[in-house]
Order: sequence, then C-alpha cells, then structure tokens
Amino acid sequence: MIFTVAIDGPAAAGKGTISRAVADRFGFPHLDTGLLYRAVAVKGGDPVEAAQHLTPEDLCRDDLRSLEAGQAASRVAAVPEVRAALVAFQRRFARSEGGAVLDGRDIGTVICPEAEVKLYVTASPEVRAHRRWLELGGDAARVLAEVRERDARDMGRADAPLRPAADAVLIDTSDLGIDEAVAAAVAIVAARLSGT
Ligand code: DC
Repeated sequence: MIFTVAIDGPAAAGKGTISRAVADRFGFPHLDTGLLYRAVAVKGGDPVEAAQHLTPEDLCRDDLRSLEAGQAASRVAAVPEVRAALVAFQRRFARSEGGAVLDGRDIGTVICPEAEVKLYVTASPEVRAHRRWLELGGDAARVLAEVRERDARDMGRADAPLRPAADAVLIDTSDLGIDEAVAAAVAIVAARLSGT
C-alpha cells in the first residue's frame, strides 16, 4: 500500500510529536525532514555539496536539535540547490510501499502533492516560543524573536515557502493538549484509510 501522511507547519507547533504518534499508531516509517536541513547546516563547508553527499551518520549527530542548528538549517534551506539535492530521497521515502509519515515545511506542497493526508499543524508564535523555551531554556525574549525570524525566513523564501497546501487540514495546537492534537490527527488518517 502506498499511503503518505504529509505534516507541515512552523517550528515547535507540535508536528514532530504528532508525526511520531501517527507513525506509531499506523506502523508507518517516519521521516523528520527538518533533520536533513539541520544536518546539511552543521556539516559545514559548501551546503550544496553537503546536501549532495549527506550520509546516515550525518543524521545521527547529537548537535542537530539546538536553536542554532535550527536557525542555520533555515538559512541553508533557502538555497534552491540544497532543496533540489534532497528532493529525490524524500519522494522515494514518501511513496515507498507500506506507507510513510513525513514532517517538514513543503511536504504537502512540493515533495508529495499527491499525499493521501495533508495536515498543517500550527500555533501562535508566543505558544511555540514558550514550548521551545521550556525545552531548551535560554532567554525567553530571544527565543520568541528567533521563532519569529525563522517563520519569516521559512514563509518568505522564494523556493518552496512554508504554507498550507490548498487541501491541507489545519490543526491549531495553541489551545490543544498533546493528546487532543494527536487524537485529531489519528482520526483524520483513520478516516482516510477506511475510505470515509
Ligand atoms: O522542522 P525543523 O525545525 O527541524 O526545521 C529546521 C529548518 O529546516 C526549518 O526552519 C526550515 C528547514 N526545513 C525546510 O525548509 N523544509 C523542510 N521540509 C523541513 C525543514
């Protein structure tokens, strides 16, 4: 069975948690595509070359989750040649036998417009910054400024900007607990799988 769940949205909206829960629930492999851009950014050197020669080990580094890596990833992600180098791998993953969940910024719009389910997971910048701050600490005002800066860059770039696909279902997690958000996503996927 080919069945793609595309989950897009801004940083710290909850898409990682929702994606992992949906993947677990339905037994689909999961790809966090943000990790690809983070790995390109922290590898250093020419980002296009880094994207063309990314290895599985690059994705296992323990410094990929920092705020700095997120900002650096957002910068290299605006380079069209970097994005182009990562497309084929993501498409193959999305359409491989047995189903797949991918989360990122452009999965429903560019990587897999034919995805069977498209979710756009979002929350207010304040709520997302607060979550990031709880997770990583630091200066709260600076975390909010960085969230806004990253949103502006990811939404404003010319190539594959962050935006909901026309047929995406919106899940706003500003006022939702994680269990409610996961339940909403699982219900949408279950309905599509059963053809209702
Ligand atoms: O999801 P994340 O925070 O790990 O993503 C880090 C950055 O990578 C994000 O700010 C923009 C970029 N990115 C992208 O451009 N396209 C994707 N599909 C995933 C991430």
